[in-house]
Amino acid sequence: MNLMRAFINGHTGLNTIIIDCGKFNAQPLHDIFMGDEGFDFIQRVLFMPDHFLPFLFLRIWYPVIMSIESEIARHYAKKESSEIARGQGHLHIGGEHATRYFLDQLGLRPDMSVLDIGCGVGGPALLAAQDYGCHVTGIDLTPDFIETARANAKTAALESRTIFQTANAGQLDFADHCFDLAIMVHVGMNIPDKEPVYQEAARVIKPGGLFAIYDILAKDHAAKMLYPCPWARSIKTSFLTDWRTTADLLSAAGLDIVKQEDRTDYAIDAITRMMEKTANTLSEFRRGAMQNLLTNIKNNACGPSIIITRKPA
Ligand SMILES: C[S@@+](CC[C@H](N)C(=O)[O-])C[C@H]1O[C@@H](n2cnc3c(N)ncnc32)[C@H](O)[C@@H]1O
Repeated sequence: MNLMRAFINGHTGLNTIIIDCGKFNAQPLHDIFMGDEGFDFIQRVLFMPDHFLPFLFLRIWYPVIMSIESEIARHYAKKESSEIARGQGHLHIGGEHATRYFLDQLGLRPDMSVLDIGCGVGGPALLAAQDYGCHVTGIDLTPDFIETARANAKTAALESRTIFQTANAGQLDFADHCFDLAIMVHVGMNIPDKEPVYQEAARVIKPGGLFAIYDILAKDHAAKMLYPCPWARSIKTSFLTDWRTTADLLSAAGLDIVKQEDRTDYAIDAITRMMEKTANTLSEFRRGAMQNLLTNIKNNACGPSIIITRKPA
């Protein structure tokens, strides 16, 4: 690791860490949709002051940070494993319902090979394997999520149709043209440089294959975004791109855009219902983050879209 930078920010201490080790961009698990419970948990483990840490200091703290991450992931792993059978492993707006809507548009057939980029604990990948009969490879940057995804595959008796591997979306270790299609669900907002990610997706799918994204994009009033959001405590760790930039990056990767569907109305409805349903169970932080997301979407600061692209045959 020739270059390592970290930002530790937020009023509570160790909230969001970005570790950028040269070519390896890591957005650890803290910033995903269930992150606040991790923050609550971590505060019980360690307090760190709210400031930028210089390189040498971070080198000392790096092993500590990594071991805390593992501990939080184990904390989640227990919860997620038991919930997977009820379809709780979908870490994005609309959950399992939104996954089905998205997958239904991709012409999935039994035995197709699918790559799920940033698969989290495996919700979308397992659904594609279970309900569509696909062979799915899920990759994610967070090793403990991959472990959980494997455990979830075992619980769901889908081990023969799924493979889960730790990997960085921008540096895939797969041969060219080896997947029928690739999907990426709510991952881009965690990735500062999406160019290598789209290039890699385009490289590994077969000619004529689809690369489909369900992600949150920046919109006209992005400058007015409220934080924290479910994926970021502050703008420092949020990497939303707008539709035009996203379309240009996808085109530059050699992909033809087949469809873009703005899911704003759906998201407002889904988040509102989710907040009503979980009113008494969400922590204060998470409720605030979800409320900010809802406000941001209503204010046209951001919104989820489905983008379907095709690699020319
Ligand atoms: C909000 S979760 C979505 C998980 C899953 N796609 C789903 O919808 O359930 C975002 C995921 O992206 C992963 N991630 C972030 N940056 C990544 C990268 N550069 N390469 C691979 N995975 C990444 C995180 O570890 C996390 O699991």
